[in-house]
Amino acid sequence: MTAKVAVIVGSLRKDSVNRSFTQALAKLARPKLDLQIVEIGDLPLYNQDLEGDLPAPVVRFKQQIESADAVLFVTPEFNRSFSAALKNAIEWGSRPWGKNSWAGKPGAIVGATLGAVGTAAAQSQLRSVASAVGVALTAQPEVYLSYREGLIVDGEITDASFAGLLEDFAAKFADWIARLRQPALSF
Ligand SMILES: Cc1cc2nc3c(=O)[nH]c(=O)nc-3n(C[C@H](O)[C@H](O)[C@H](O)COP(=O)(O)O)c2cc1C
Repeated sequence: MTAKVAVIVGSLRKDSVNRSFTQALAKLARPKLDLQIVEIGDLPLYNQDLEGDLPAPVVRFKQQIESADAVLFVTPEFNRSFSAALKNAIEWGSRPWGKNSWAGKPGAIVGATLGAVGTAAAQSQLRSVASAVGVALTAQPEVYLSYREGLIVDGEITDASFAGLLEDFAAKFADWIARLRQPALSF
């Protein structure tokens, strides 16, 4: 069975490496996972004053998260952390009080950077924040991409060993989602 995964890409720019990485990962992950990008660029800056009458992009965003079987964060690394745009989306997903769209969602984190540490610092901070809002995160395999020219061509990963890691990631994430979806045993 194909799991529907809401993907939040932390970079807003059109030519984002993280966006093209997501598209390549989506191809490799099929049919176990159906990865669909949920846009965050139109979300207003989080402001508690807006909670009384939620802006339309926030309502749309929360519905997309809630209707997915799982969430995948694809993060860039900005100043050794994840992006403000991504933190803003997490804030909106977690609010208003009692309407946390993240609670109990199976989730995973991957990320791409042009730098040498492959988003390790960003992912570590994101892991802490995503756990705090109730996302049930996978641990392994970790996926840190230090992007280089030619790694993604026509939407395909050209490095066979990295493509293998991504296939393994997709299979384990699909297993994780299936496990968390199982109804609790009753005695
Ligand atoms: C504001 C800013 C801060 C950055 N800080 C880091 C950093 O701490 N570590 C890193 O590896 N790359 C850093 N970079 C480089 C990004 O990895 C690079 O811009 C990457 O392409 C961003 O992802 P994107 O292509 O998906 O937008 C930074 C870039 C910007 C614009």
